Amino acid sequence: MKQDMIVILDLGSTENTVLARQIRDLGVYSEIHPHDITVEELKKLDNVKGIILNGGENRIVDGAAVEIRPELYDLEYPMISIDYPSSKCDTQLKELPDEAALKQFVFEICKAEANWNMKNFIEDQVELIRRQVGDGKVLLALSGGVDSSVVAAMLIKAIGQQLVCVHVNHGLMRKNESESVVQVFRDQLHANLIYVDASERFLGKLENVADPEQKRKIIGGEFIRVFEEEARKLEGIEFLGQGTIYPDIIESGTKTAKMVKSHHNVGGLPEDLQFKLVEPLKQLFKDEVRACGVELGLPHSMVYRQPFPGPGLGVRCLGAITRDRLEAVRESDAILREEFEKAGLDKKVWQYFTVVPDFKSVGVKNNARSFDYMVIIRAINTIDAMSATIERIDWDVLQRITERILAEVENVNRVCYDMSPKPPATIEFE
Ligand code: XMP
Repeated sequence: MKQDMIVILDLGSTENTVLARQIRDLGVYSEIHPHDITVEELKKLDNVKGIILNGGENRIVDGAAVEIRPELYDLEYPMISIDYPSSKCDTQLKELPDEAALKQFVFEICKAEANWNMKNFIEDQVELIRRQVGDGKVLLALSGGVDSSVVAAMLIKAIGQQLVCVHVNHGLMRKNESESVVQVFRDQLHANLIYVDASERFLGKLENVADPEQKRKIIGGEFIRVFEEEARKLEGIEFLGQGTIYPDIIESGTKTAKMVKSHHNVGGLPEDLQFKLVEPLKQLFKDEVRACGVELGLPHSMVYRQPFPGPGLGVRCLGAITRDRLEAVRESDAILREEFEKAGLDKKVWQYFTVVPDFKSVGVKNNARSFDYMVIIRAINTIDAMSATIERIDWDVLQRITERILAEVENVNRVCYDMSPKPPATIEFE
């Protein structure tokens, strides 16, 4: 391995991730590990240069304060403690936003080299993947989202044709999205790509289903069945590639913090598929995943795309999905994205999309009464998607988008702008 590492031991801090980010921003790789890591486990980690004992408000678990294993002090690693009383540490601090103290520890005491960069990371991962996979085959569900796209690019670099990508088009993708996955991965990167157009199958299953949760369950369940059918047709597959990233692992819960959400990727594939997992991004934060994608040569539009829910346009075509309204969502979304890009809003706004409800309103078109659908525009900003504020869009931009939607999208006679923050609204409508 090329990268030096600073290990953070989680002794109940709520700021482990912030600290890991700070160290990585200094150019030194850092990982968070549980407080009760053993000497053997620690020794298995490559290139450890120092350890930070990171205490805090979650240190009391079931009435008792958690401690590190005392034998860790016998190792030769430099140690610093933050908000954790430990007379055996070289330095004890009450708190850390003072970057000078962190720099001094990392560079002067630990003598770590600032060699954490994407080029080195990719070289290391390529070597690790080759070692893990040997001449075996890896299967990957390639949705076209940021994480699965970057995993695909990494695996193509490492093992080329030993990777089999399956792209399932559930018919709820945005305009030209599946086409661009095929174009980038099959035509440019020469991936071994199986494209499954399952649009009719999904739309058939969703017919007359109006309940949002049921729609989500049908889309998720059907995705697994299609993927499973494709996997069973293939022979000699031993590994499954997954776009697990570092927050997925951290949010699955530590020994001191409560679980935020269970970690599952690829919509929870059935256990009887029994693959060994290849997860080359599992140490990266989201912005690092994007940087990795850029380094691997993926197009900017794919790496910096806004979040898109797994059930796709299915949860933006409200109520029971109909083809006319689904097309209205797809076309209006494409117009919105085009105009946001032109106005530079794509770099400023976190998420923006259109929604089409399942009722009609009266209007006039060509001097005659019309009875058509409405398009609702939503544009929000957020840090973590747990709460969100609306973006104040320039009136002229909104007007241009409205004019285009009314002129270009069939079956629509009205455009509205959603002013609701989260809470009480959620970002998506269903
Ligand atoms: P809500 O609607 O819960 O959305 O405020 C929060 C964020 O999560 C995205 N979202 C999903 N992402 N699978 C995903 O990968 C899903 O099923 C899903 N549902 C919502 C949503 O777009 C927003 O960014």
